[in-house]
Amino acid sequence: MDIKNSPIGFFDSGVGGLSVMKEAIRLMPNEDYIYFGDSQNAPYGTKSLEEVRKLTINAVDLLLERNAKAIVVACNTATSAAIDLIRHKYKEVPIIGIEPALKLAVKYNRKGSIIIMATPMTLREEKFKHLMENYDKDYNIISLPCAKLVEFIEQGVIEGKDLENYLKQKLEPYLVDEIGVIVLGCTHYPFVRKTLYNIVDKNVPIIDGGVGTSQELKRRLEEKGLLTDKSQKGEVVILNSNGSKETISLCERLINM
Ligand code: DGL
Repeated sequence: MDIKNSPIGFFDSGVGGLSVMKEAIRLMPNEDYIYFGDSQNAPYGTKSLEEVRKLTINAVDLLLERNAKAIVVACNTATSAAIDLIRHKYKEVPIIGIEPALKLAVKYNRKGSIIIMATPMTLREEKFKHLMENYDKDYNIISLPCAKLVEFIEQGVIEGKDLENYLKQKLEPYLVDEIGVIVLGCTHYPFVRKTLYNIVDKNVPIIDGGVGTSQELKRRLEEKGLLTDKSQKGEVVILNSNGSKETISLCERLINM
C-alpha cells in the first residue's frame, strides 16, 4: 500500500487522546486513523519517568507495526516524558506531541490569571518549565495538578456530584480572584469541560491543544507529501490495552460526544 494511504497513529495513556483525534478527523476526514489507548496502565501522570518512557516506546512500536505513517502522542504527560527520546529512536517517522496551550491562552489577552490544569508529571517536567519561562514574567500563571481527574474520566465519570466536588475543591482557592483563561493541559480533561462550566463563569475560555495539534499534524504530513489522496471518508480503528467491553464502549461514547 502507498504510504500516503496508511493510517495516522494516535496514542494516549487511555481514552483522553480521543479528544485530539476527534479534531484531526474533523480537519482531515479522509485519512485513516488508528488509536491506541493504554488504559490498562493509566494514569501515567503519577508514574516514574522511566515507566512512562518504556510504555510510550511500547505504544509507538505497536502503532508502527500496524503501519502508522505518523505518530501523534496525544498525551501531554507522555510528550513531556518521552518526545525527545522517541524522535531520536524513530528518526524517519513524523512524530507530533502536545503541550499545554499557553501560547493560545495569552492570545485571548484577558485580565486575570491563567490556570493550567494538568497531571503532576506534565507540570514538573523540564519541557513545561521551558514553556513557562516564556510567559511567567508577564502573566499570572497558576499550575494546578489534578492527579485524580484522569481516573474519573477513565471510569467514564464526566459529570455528577463526585466529579463536581473534586473540581470545586481544586478550583475554589482561585475563584475569589479573576480567572482569565483555563488551559486544559491533559487530553482527558476536555471531556469534563461541561462540568467545569458548572463551577467557572461561562465567559472564561476553557481551552485545549486539540485543534492546534491537529493543524500541526496536517502541516507535517503536507510537508512530507504524506496526506492521503483518497476522496472518501477514512476508517477509524480503536485499540485499548484494557480490552474490556466497558472501555471500548466508553471510547465510542467519547468519540461521538
Ligand atoms: N491524557 C494524558 C495527558 O494528556 C493523561 C495522563 C495520565 O494518564 O495521567 O497528560
